[in-house]
Amino acid sequence: MTGSNKLQQKLNYQIQPGGRLTGHLRVPGDKSISHRSIMLGSLADGTTRVEGFLEGEDSLATLNAFRQMGVSIEGPDAGRLTIHGVGIDGLHAPQDPLDLGNSGTSMRLLTGLLAGQGMTVTLTGDSSLSGRPMKRVIDPLSQMGADIGSTAGFTAPLQIHHRSRLQGIDYLLPMASAQVKSALLLAGLRAQGETCVAEPAPTRDHTERMLQGFGYPVRRSGNRICLTGGGRLTGCDIDIPADISSATFFLVGAAIAEGSEMVLEHVGINPTRDGVISILKLMGADLELINEREVGGEPVADIRIGSSRLHGIEIPEQLVPLAIDEFPALFVAAACAEGETRLRGAEELRVKESDRIQVMAEGLQRLGIQADPTPDGILIQGGTLGGGRVESYGDHRIAMSFAIAGLRAKDPIEIADCANVNTSFPGFVSVASAAGLRIEEVVN
Ligand code: S3P
Repeated sequence: MTGSNKLQQKLNYQIQPGGRLTGHLRVPGDKSISHRSIMLGSLADGTTRVEGFLEGEDSLATLNAFRQMGVSIEGPDAGRLTIHGVGIDGLHAPQDPLDLGNSGTSMRLLTGLLAGQGMTVTLTGDSSLSGRPMKRVIDPLSQMGADIGSTAGFTAPLQIHHRSRLQGIDYLLPMASAQVKSALLLAGLRAQGETCVAEPAPTRDHTERMLQGFGYPVRRSGNRICLTGGGRLTGCDIDIPADISSATFFLVGAAIAEGSEMVLEHVGINPTRDGVISILKLMGADLELINEREVGGEPVADIRIGSSRLHGIEIPEQLVPLAIDEFPALFVAAACAEGETRLRGAEELRVKESDRIQVMAEGLQRLGIQADPTPDGILIQGGTLGGGRVESYGDHRIAMSFAIAGLRAKDPIEIADCANVNTSFPGFVSVASAAGLRIEEVVN
């Protein structure tokens, strides 16, 4: 096979209809926490030991970026890492651009983290990441004194130019985004004075929690989070829970497939991430949290779920940022529910790894479901899922969502362009087929 043929080959999923999900399962580690463990572990004084690290392409992109900046990291070995922190001012300028692949979290958080490091760095990514909006971090970081170059459309590649000390700001986020919030807090570590970020709605707070775990004071009052620059981080041990965003495919799959019964183990149920639990319960899911505990500053539980008859709902808008990555799978739940499900206030879904409103609407329509996109959401009429070929547009969560739709489909579903599932859920196909999904990979 020639190189160019190889490049054109795509990995597709073939799903045979029916089946049910059963058993106990621990899905891979939380992606958001995995990224942050590398970032803060690298900047800390001393050693950080990590367990449960997600060995997916996105978090590995962050890991490789820090290796390129001179950090010695042992592993990953079965989710274990030892990070030899270089201290808050110990990173070295990388020789080459940092290639962050498909990972928006890597690019946005690193832009903030590196803006005040006094070095010149270029950040690049794949075609999806190169189309995603970066103005949301460039604008506030420029206000802090950073010098960041981009394309005319404020997209990657980004050039972060050498700058002496940044100045803290007090910034109201124009959108609910944990990535932007985190970028500013990470820039604030190296800024003069206080950096405060106010958020229009609560978003995932892993950065704040983990900073505190590394001994860095973070103050929250109401919706405003502040820290003072110039402090140091102390290495620590981190136990990363299973990713609720990856568990979601099994929660929805078990809810829609008759005769299913699963326990998802050691799942992170941080209240800024648990919108999917609330939404599934509102839809009538038979779901229960067992053995709730706290592990390394993050709440964790086992989640038991059985199949049930779901019904359509109006999704409460305040739950949107708390379930932002779970909507593709929730749309499949809505397609299998009785009646209508309406989502509003979720325009952010249009700027994820793909335009998740458009792409899910298109795929569901292909499978015979009435799904009408709106500028900030979607209206889905529950119905009977047929079969056919749908496009994932290289978006990992779209691919896995249509895969679990097969559990309720009448005919086979082929899903195109699924290689990026490895960004967040390596081993998805074998884990899902062991649980009962009739899934196969096809290369063509
Ligand atoms: C993430 C924040 C969210 C989420 C993404 C991971 C993070 O993005 O969609 O998958 O780790 O901070 P936004 O900050 O753009 O909402």
